[in-house]
Amino acid sequence: MAEFKKFRIADAANWDGQTVALEGWVYNTRAAGKKLRFLIARDGSGIMQCVFFQGECEENSFDTFDKLTPESSVRITGVIKKEPRSPGGFEMSARKLECFQVAEEYPISKKEHGVEFLMDHRHLWIRSRKQWAALRVRSELIWLLHQFYHDRGFLRFDAPILSGAACEGTSTLFQTPYFDEKAFLSQSGQLYGEVGAMAFGKVYVYGPTFRAEKSKTRKHLTEFWMVEPEMAYATMNDAMALGEEFVEYLVQGILTRCQSELEILERDLSQLEKIRAPFPRVSYDEALQILKKKGVELPWGEDFGAPHETALGEHFEKPVFVHHMPSQIKAFYFKQSDEVDGPGVRGKNGKYALGCDLIAPDGYGEIIGGGQREEDVETLLARLAEHKLDPKDYYWYLDLRRYGSVPHSGFGLGIERMVAWVTGVGHVRETIPFPRMMNTLKP
Ligand code: 4AD
Ligand code: MG
Repeated sequence: MAEFKKFRIADAANWDGQTVALEGWVYNTRAAGKKLRFLIARDGSGIMQCVFFQGECEENSFDTFDKLTPESSVRITGVIKKEPRSPGGFEMSARKLECFQVAEEYPISKKEHGVEFLMDHRHLWIRSRKQWAALRVRSELIWLLHQFYHDRGFLRFDAPILSGAACEGTSTLFQTPYFDEKAFLSQSGQLYGEVGAMAFGKVYVYGPTFRAEKSKTRKHLTEFWMVEPEMAYATMNDAMALGEEFVEYLVQGILTRCQSELEILERDLSQLEKIRAPFPRVSYDEALQILKKKGVELPWGEDFGAPHETALGEHFEKPVFVHHMPSQIKAFYFKQSDEVDGPGVRGKNGKYALGCDLIAPDGYGEIIGGGQREEDVETLLARLAEHKLDPKDYYWYLDLRRYGSVPHSGFGLGIERMVAWVTGVGHVRETIPFPRMMNTLKP
């Protein structure tokens, strides 16, 4: 019969003084003379030192021990004891050692490896301490995001991955044959999220999204995960208010739930403790002024690049919302305005989009992109034409503007960029188990 109440290193405090079986893998071994052996084991939940004393453990234990190699699979039976000097505060006084497999020579050693080598060995690399810690933070962050929206009455609304309508422009679409039609892999669940908002009021889409991005930066994946809340009867300001509450919740939640992981990752916690709402908000035009003063000038109408995002992060030391972006660099669905900080009514020229991006500090770049959606059917048809998109593909999206249209807003937060920022790892490839990038399809 399956035994579910098994010992796990993470719960060692609950087993103090008890005899347990630790099932895991060899992280490290060390011999001290004839009578003493140390085995640091990992079981997926943490690492623990197991001490083998001759006379205290079964006779064949030392023979078995001396054959062990890194990553060999083992079951160690022994008594859990408090040991303040040990990682995690507990260690095991071993009685018995069983080996399931003596591992072949493990390709990842303590020495430095190149990134290419590590990426080719991603299936093993994730066992390393820092990779393990970053993926634990990812898992906790995803758990927190579901809790956040659930607690606030947002319905989880699943968008399709195969879609017949582009959301974020046609230049980054992955296309695939779909019987007699062609389909795209979803770039964003937003358009479907808007459908959900009109049916349920407040929803969030959570799932993988795909972009044929040819950029080789530390912020771009071709497959990444997004959480996208969408609210009926909501303006761009409402989206920013939700965004800052959400980001504060995630950062503070990770700080309390993932202390040991952040320690392994050597994250500067004082930086994260400062992340409290409200966040500063500046218009795109104001941001250009700040950038000019910082010596990284940007011509009006262009999108921020890495140097601009880094400079804005430095200036504010907190995540900052940049709103009223030039319409010309924004997708077709944005509601437009002629005014900066105005009431958000569309004027004749639609110079600005009611878009808001949240830029993280320390060069982690844009973590949220969102804003207010166009709710007028005629305007939206004109916008589709400007973007050379076929209104037939969007008949269902246009219907939302025909049957009880309301102002509505939302945003998307990229999970990998958020995890990269919170953990302080340098590249989004270390924040997802199997990153997909231009030249990375295996493992
Ligand atoms: O700014 P984006 O493109 O916005 C949208 O897709 C909207 N439809 C979302 C919405 O309003 N519901 O993407 C949103 C976020 C970015 O801020 C970033 O965090 C992340 O998704 N992101 C990427 N992350 C990793 N790799 C990429 N190639 C990414 N592109 C966007
Ligand atoms: Mg964006």
